[in-house]
This record gives sequence, C-alpha cells and structure tokens, in this order.
Amino acid sequence: MTESLTIALSKGRILDDTLPLLAAAGIEPLDDPRKSRKLIFDTNQPNIKLVIIRAADVPTFVEFGAADLGVAGKDVLMEHDGDLFELLDLGIARCRLMVAEPADIAANDDPANWSRLRIATKYVKIARRFFAAKGIQTEIIKLYGSMELAPLVGLADRIVDLVDTGNTLRANNLVEIEHIADISSWLVGNTASMKLKHELMQSTIAAVATALEATNE
Ligand code: ATP
Ligand code: PRP
Repeated sequence: MTESLTIALSKGRILDDTLPLLAAAGIEPLDDPRKSRKLIFDTNQPNIKLVIIRAADVPTFVEFGAADLGVAGKDVLMEHDGDLFELLDLGIARCRLMVAEPADIAANDDPANWSRLRIATKYVKIARRFFAAKGIQTEIIKLYGSMELAPLVGLADRIVDLVDTGNTLRANNLVEIEHIADISSWLVGNTASMKLKHELMQSTIAAVATALEATNE
C-alpha cells in the first residue's frame, strides 16, 4: 500500500511562515489555505495532505494520529504535554512566555517574596507547574485571550502570557517580571507514524530540515 501523510498546520500567525517553508521543502497546497474555507488541502505531492486547524488543537491531532506531522508553538506543546516527538525547531513565531504585572506593582515587587498569587492565563498547566516548582500557591483563572486586561480590571494580579515586541504590555502599563520559556514553532510527529510510515516521514522531515537550513543561510 502506498504511504500517505497528513500534516496539521496552525491557522493564524504561524501559517504565514509555515507555508513558504513547506513550499521550499517541495510541498505546496493546491488551494490557498489563507483564502479558502476548506479544512483539508491536497498538495502537489499526491500522498501528502494538509489540515488547517486551531493552533491549540495541533498537538491533539498529532498525538492521536489524525495527523502524522504538525507545526505548533512550543507554548502550545508545553501546555498540551502529550506523547509526541518534537522533531525540528523551525525558529518561526519566536517570542517568550513571561509572567507580567502592573508597572506600579513591579516598582516594589520581588518575585523571591511571592507566596500566593492570582494568575490569569490561557496556559493553565504551564503556570501551575512553574509556580508549584517555586513553592508559590496560585489561584489560576483561565482566559482565552486578552490576558493583559485581567490586572487592569482586578481579575488577577499577574498574568502568564506571550511577549514579542512588548507593545501589548506597554500599551497596558504592564511589565515583564519573570521568564518562563523561550518560544518558537516546532515540527512535531506522531510516535506510531514514525515507525509505521518510516520512509515517508523521514524523507519529509529531511526535506523540511534542508529547506530550513537554506532559509537560515
Ligand atoms: P487561536 O487564534 O486559535 O485562539 P492563538 O491566538 O494562540 O490561537 P496565534 O495568535 O496565531 O493563535 O498564535 C499561534 C502561535 O504563535 C502561538 O502558540 C505562539 O507560539 C506564537 N505567537 C503568539 N503570539 C505571538 C507573538 N506576539 N509573536 C510571535 N509569536 C507569537
Ligand atoms: C499575542 C500575545 C500578546 C501579544 C504579544 O497576542 O498573547 O498579547 O501577542 O505580542 P507583543 O509583545 O509583540 O505585543 P495575539 O496578538 O495573538 O492576540 P490574542 O492574545 O488575542 O491571541
């Protein structure tokens, strides 16, 4: 039987950087995923399909084998914390995962004195793990976006969120106070596919790795 692969891509900001990388690796969707409402895309490679899904769903599709490969942010992978292979750091969508707080609190704040915090974040598991490792008790409030608003309206005293330029924090009088992780997007793989579709998985991963090297030269 001919092997075939499904690659899960995050819609949103990662897609704009992922599609050129896949194209350089010789994989191009036949329709433009940024313009189409389709969810499954045939490519110029008859045995490779793309599915375009919410960023946070990519690890689930890959872990359960609905996709053989996927591209997801390290933040999403850390939060998912599942059984899949992290194959290649693609170096795209770079940012950092930080604890942030209002600038006026930061002026007299020392993280070494934290004992109990109320944190708003969409990264509930990461935040729980990070503060538990420091022996800090937390009440975590799950949000789905615009975390920066939480301290401004008294919903939480700190946030855990992504920071890139720092513009969103600055615009809301917040500052970075603790670094949790550096973030970029990774190519990830289903563990069973790595064995059962060894040849096609390896050749596809190698093509992406070569394309990545070429873009970094
Ligand atoms: P959804 O739109 O499905 O709710 P999302 O808002 O997390 O998900 P994006 O904003 O497209 O989706 O972010 C996808 C990924 O891009 C994140 O998981 C992270 O790895 C990275 N990312 C998010 N914000 C930034 C940023 N400001 N700069 C660089 N990379 C970022
Ligand atoms: C992300 C992140 C921050 C912002 C950081 O939000 O959650 O809010 O980018 O980037 P900056 O440091 O360059 O300002 P996004 O734009 O994805 O919106 P969302 O939080 O609503 O998903």
